[in-house]
Amino acid sequence: MAIKKVGVIGCGLMGHGIVQVAAQGGFDVVAFESNQDALDKGLGRIEKSLAKLAAKSVEKGKATQEDADAHAKATRARITGSLDKQDLADCDLVVEAIVEDLDVKKKLFAELGGICKADTIFASNTSSFPIGEMAEASGRPERMVGLHFFNPVQLMRLVEVVRSEKTTDEVFAEARSFGEAVGKAPVACKDTPGFVVNRLLVPYMSQALLMLDRGDATKEDIDTAMQFGCGYPMGPITLTDYVGLDTTLSILKGWVDRYPDEPAFVIPKILEQKVSEGKLGRKTGEGFYTWDGDKRS
Ligand code: 3HC
Repeated sequence: MAIKKVGVIGCGLMGHGIVQVAAQGGFDVVAFESNQDALDKGLGRIEKSLAKLAAKSVEKGKATQEDADAHAKATRARITGSLDKQDLADCDLVVEAIVEDLDVKKKLFAELGGICKADTIFASNTSSFPIGEMAEASGRPERMVGLHFFNPVQLMRLVEVVRSEKTTDEVFAEARSFGEAVGKAPVACKDTPGFVVNRLLVPYMSQALLMLDRGDATKEDIDTAMQFGCGYPMGPITLTDYVGLDTTLSILKGWVDRYPDEPAFVIPKILEQKVSEGKLGRKTGEGFYTWDGDKRS
């Protein structure tokens, strides 16, 4: 495999997880953030997650305390924090995990096209924007894919590997191998709105919010219904809190703008209202529910 050194841009909810799984997979990782505070927060989250995973593997008898600590230490040692995009120049793969704003992403890829070595593969963790558009902006459309991870990245087994019309077979195969090397099950997707998962999941979440808006059932009952009726690990309203209300809204807004005739893409009023109140879900401590860290309170 040609990929040895990986850059991750953005150390937020998704980015810090991507940094971590890449380092756990044995890659050297440059974790880029735009300011020290955000970088410290991201690296702090990784610390917490590594400690949790180490404690779990000891508890389950999969490793001794010594081995678990050594594994966490080795993972940490592969991560270098950076505030300078020039540090990404010699990365074999650069994964973008910044804000869901297509113009901002396109600008970033145009900049990276001028910084990174000619054979660097570019990837976006976008939830819903066309990979092809970012690929054109990068100036090397044949060397770009989507690598869409799921939240929490450390625990969710899937990665969607998205190829645009111009992605070469070689780049796609490298990206897929990278997904496997970081412990994920890769699935191949075409460059379509929401790829596989979000095309199914986000309309399901928005239907649950419309139900809440109409007063058909309480949020607790909607969640219990899907948890116990379908065996989902969490119900759709809890999941919206978990994913982030702002992220969910920006996915839907992007789709409604681009595909106004698609009836599955609708924006529930209650979602817009919560976002305007700054209630973004787990990350702000309140969305549809209140949260204490990872747990609904
Ligand atoms: N790192 C390490 N450990 C973590 C962790 C992390 N990032 N996040 C949670 N854990 C730990 C918890 O602390 C807990 O440890 P404990 O047992 O010591 O308390 C353990 O993992 C299990 O967590 P839970 O007790 O909360 O138990 P669950 O069995 O419910 O597992 C879950 C949690 C895996 C998040 C599960 O609820 C789940 O699968 N939920 C659905 C998540 C989902 O659908 N994600 C996809 C969202 S869509 C998306 O991301 C796409 C985007 O583009 C919108």
